[in-house]
Amino acid sequence: MRRKMAAGNWKMNGLRASLAELGLLASKHPAPVCEVLICPPATLLGWASEALLQSEIRLGGQDCHSEKSGAHTGDVSAAMLADAGASHVILGHSERRADHGESSDMVAAKARTAHMAGLTAVICVGETEAERDAGTTLSVIGAQLQGSLPATATGTNTIIAYEPVWAIGTGRTPTLSQIAEVHDFLRAELSGRHGAEAEAFRLLYGGSVKPSNAAEIFAVSNVDGALVGGASLKASDFGAIIDALDAA
Ligand code: 13P
Repeated sequence: MRRKMAAGNWKMNGLRASLAELGLLASKHPAPVCEVLICPPATLLGWASEALLQSEIRLGGQDCHSEKSGAHTGDVSAAMLADAGASHVILGHSERRADHGESSDMVAAKARTAHMAGLTAVICVGETEAERDAGTTLSVIGAQLQGSLPATATGTNTIIAYEPVWAIGTGRTPTLSQIAEVHDFLRAELSGRHGAEAEAFRLLYGGSVKPSNAAEIFAVSNVDGALVGGASLKASDFGAIIDALDAA
């Protein structure tokens, strides 16, 4: 059985004062059934890990470099994230693919380095609105998935997040049957690659998940949880999403 996961991506939001939200979340959810992951900006990881010492909430980075260390001004390595208290790292988010020109090859190289540092990679895939309109959603996602998974990927060190680009931060979500179609497709692609182990990979949906739509999304086949942006910033909203996942 796959353990469900509620993951929050704070993106470029959060100052030290935001750690209060983490404290609230931890005190309201001392023993969630699902795994809870928060990915704050890298600057907050060390503080957050101290704040969450007594908590089961896990921490993740939002990106890492593909090299282990070296002359890469401004970048953060996988080992640095682990050293600061992270157990996970988001890789290949569409905002990084778009803003930083990250290719699937680069994402795979980063994921391999993350695995070697002992981190679980949360690898993101998703189509743009133009690609969906053109009917190429599944071929785009299939290519992203195959290109972004390194040879080191297993069902325990890798999680896949399906995030349609047009649903991120827009308040729009795919229909439940569109979500099911992509998640079933991802499971089938993983099974072609990994055989029976495909059943161990968790598949998260991301894109405008909020307390009001979480329960119906969590009821969709092959949805093992969510990667949440905006609604993860407030403990009350994210807590309601955790509750919906625990009840699913
Ligand atoms: P929103 O939940 O704000 O749409 O963001 C989704 C996302 O990009 C999470 O990684």
